[in-house]
Amino acid sequence: MPDTISRETFLQYAASAGAAMLLLSLEGFALSVNAKKLRVAVIGCGSVSNRYLPQLLSSKLIEVVSLCDIKYERAVEINAKYNVNAKTYAHIDAMLKGVSFDMMVTLTDMQVHGELNKKALLAGKHVWSEKPMANTYAEGKALLDLAKSKKLRLWGAPAVVNSPQFEFMSKTIQSGKLGRVASAHGQYGHTGPSWSAFFYEKGGGSMPDLGVYNMATLTGLLGPAKSVMAMTSIVNPERTVDDKGKIQVEAEDNAHILLEHDKNVISHVMCGFNYFDPHGHEAGTQSLHSIQVFGDYGNMRLIGYDWETNGVVLDTSWTEPPKLMSTDKGGYEWQEGARVVGESIVKGIEPRINVEHALHVLEIIEAARKSSATGKRVKLKSTFPWPMV
Ligand SMILES: NC(=O)c1ccc[n+]([C@@H]2O[C@H](COP(=O)([O-])OP(=O)(O)OC[C@H]3O[C@@H](n4cnc5c(N)ncnc54)[C@H](O)[C@@H]3O)[C@@H](O)[C@H]2O)c1
Repeated sequence: MPDTISRETFLQYAASAGAAMLLLSLEGFALSVNAKKLRVAVIGCGSVSNRYLPQLLSSKLIEVVSLCDIKYERAVEINAKYNVNAKTYAHIDAMLKGVSFDMMVTLTDMQVHGELNKKALLAGKHVWSEKPMANTYAEGKALLDLAKSKKLRLWGAPAVVNSPQFEFMSKTIQSGKLGRVASAHGQYGHTGPSWSAFFYEKGGGSMPDLGVYNMATLTGLLGPAKSVMAMTSIVNPERTVDDKGKIQVEAEDNAHILLEHDKNVISHVMCGFNYFDPHGHEAGTQSLHSIQVFGDYGNMRLIGYDWETNGVVLDTSWTEPPKLMSTDKGGYEWQEGARVVGESIVKGIEPRINVEHALHVLEIIEAARKSSATGKRVKLKSTFPWPMV
């Protein structure tokens, strides 16, 4: 590898993952160019940007060079609040023509992720997208094809597979400690976001906002789903939100989804925006078992949420009490996804999180909507590299 290789060329090489050997040989080179950081642009400077920016800014391998929001004052405010020292923009087109960068981090309303991600890929940028990465599976698949054709990387939240507790559960299942796994359950709900209408508009809903975490966890643990059956509903047809006042709810705020996995394993996800949750996101520190997996020789219950994991209760004995396992978070935080994949580009390594998994979850969400509307079971076509650990 000549010393004179350009940084762009290096990033293109690193982008063409798949070639693990090439990546390994690039690793040494990659580390030597660490002085030149991955330049990141963040689009969408609302609520979740407050969680992403401290993560991105904490990395020695990443520099946040641009911030964009159609509510321009938010980009300016976030820039000052976190001392980012980035260029600020009111529109993606201006940002793509502005200061050069390598990866866009998409944190806008869900409904515009697909179109913004496409613009970034067309402009030659890698993309990390908050969920969902597109409005439909077909749109997401087209994004992945585009990324591949341009030797760019594309990833979608959530990052639940990064937690040590996910790893522990995955290894426990694969080791056979639970016997033959039959069933699993995931749940996530609260009383719904109060700040933005898009969560309740068409293309929003509790599945892409909340159930998506459980779908990623359960498919990550049990393997790709082959088919989906679901019932979804709107329990609360009218909401009041900060940005639009009183609105009619168009997207489901209550959903139950059944997933058929290989070997006749069935899992279930329930999510919604009408779940009494008096302790907010802290509810899980003690007793909430948000993910449960049952086999004929044992069961496992995740304490906390799958995105905010606190430990795993493992029960494999008729006589011994259940054991509390895997309580060390190992530095994992749910908002780490963009930092972790950004660093993986610079280091020339492949992260555990992968885009086919996020696309598979997107297909599940779309299939669940279809199943609920038609009353029928919907077959899935997508899959992803599995097992993940
Ligand atoms: N808020 C959270 O705690 C949280 C947690 C995890 C994931 N998420 C996800 O993050 C995303 C954003 O959620 P949020 O709560 O931050 O919403 P938000 O409404 O607080 O922020 C979204 C921001 O995107 C901006 N925006 C919308 N369209 C844009 C466009 N075309 N170009 C540039 N900016 C645009 C809006 O002006 C707004 O400032 C959603 O996908 C959500 O599911 C949010």
